[in-house]
Amino acid sequence: MIVLGLEGTAHTISCGILDENSIMANVSSMYKPKTGGIHPTQAAAHHVDKVSEVIAKAIEIAGIKPSDIDLVAFSMGPGLGPSLRVTSTAARTLAVTLKRPIIGVNHPLGHIEIGKRLSGAQDPVMLYVSGGNTQVIAHLNGRYRVLGETLDIGIGNMIDKFARYAGIPFPGGPEIEKLAKDGRKLLTLPYSVKGMDTSFSGILTSALEYLKKGEPVEDISFSIQETAFSMLVEVLERALYVSGKDEVLMAGGVALNNRLREMVSEMGREVDATTYMTDKNYCMDNGAMIAQAGLLMYKSGIRMNIEDTSINPRYRIDEVDAPWVIEKNV
Ligand code: ATP
Ligand code: FE2
Repeated sequence: MIVLGLEGTAHTISCGILDENSIMANVSSMYKPKTGGIHPTQAAAHHVDKVSEVIAKAIEIAGIKPSDIDLVAFSMGPGLGPSLRVTSTAARTLAVTLKRPIIGVNHPLGHIEIGKRLSGAQDPVMLYVSGGNTQVIAHLNGRYRVLGETLDIGIGNMIDKFARYAGIPFPGGPEIEKLAKDGRKLLTLPYSVKGMDTSFSGILTSALEYLKKGEPVEDISFSIQETAFSMLVEVLERALYVSGKDEVLMAGGVALNNRLREMVSEMGREVDATTYMTDKNYCMDNGAMIAQAGLLMYKSGIRMNIEDTSINPRYRIDEVDAPWVIEKNV
């Protein structure tokens, strides 16, 4: 069945088209603020501007007619209200016009399911690291459960905010990764792990103090990565132990970071877990991931009426049944 998936929870509006056999298109447009962080209303204005173009282009690349679409899926949350509203309006309009079923998808679920599809992971502990989210997730008893998460800001937000103060525009992650390669000195930053939860705001505060004191940005970037990523590896290892699973899957924009990939792989080798990475083209927010989750939901019998598709800016992955997952250790 051909699924059109629309993503637009935050900075990116994206349309993916896929079926069981192939990903036929994945077209994105990213809002990049000229100054400062993401302004929710500006991000939404960007989505309004680009949404039709992105959908039309995806349909063209997929080589299908709109009437070939069997299901419309869209990201219902979590995310920024104004961005979510644009996405849901476009998806609902499409579904009603085409007279096709609609499924509202939880955004992190999309990250997991596209990662699994592309990497072959079956029942992993997922490290979901993006701008707004930092969660360790595993499927237990019919749903994905959040085993650990950030108690304050997402790791990506922390890196982006530091980058912004250092004069690097959004998204700061890739540039910080480059600068970190030239860092030599490991500066002390607050290492904050509580059980399987993490906290990153202390790292941001200390890193900004180092910046004010004139420490080289390369050393600070290096220290941010080494400290924050070690925290993630520690909780990931604990989550593997607690859940009894033997696969790790990395997803979300920060999972593009090669140093993080290296550290997680090394831990995986040490504890005999197989590490899977989401293909780099699908780590950041994208429509294909929403189409993939929608496909699995629909095929497992989940149905929604238009009235069930209200946006939910605080939608958590553990509110969603995921009956299609077969746990390996059950
Ligand atoms: P969410 O999934 O929470 O809705 P999002 O929309 O912010 O989040 P993504 O598109 O998954 O997320 O990821 C964007 C984030 O990824 C930004 O914070 C960006 O700086 C970060 N990022 C991208 N590339 C890298 C990299 N190489 N190293 C570290 N961080 C990176
Ligand atoms: Fe995301």
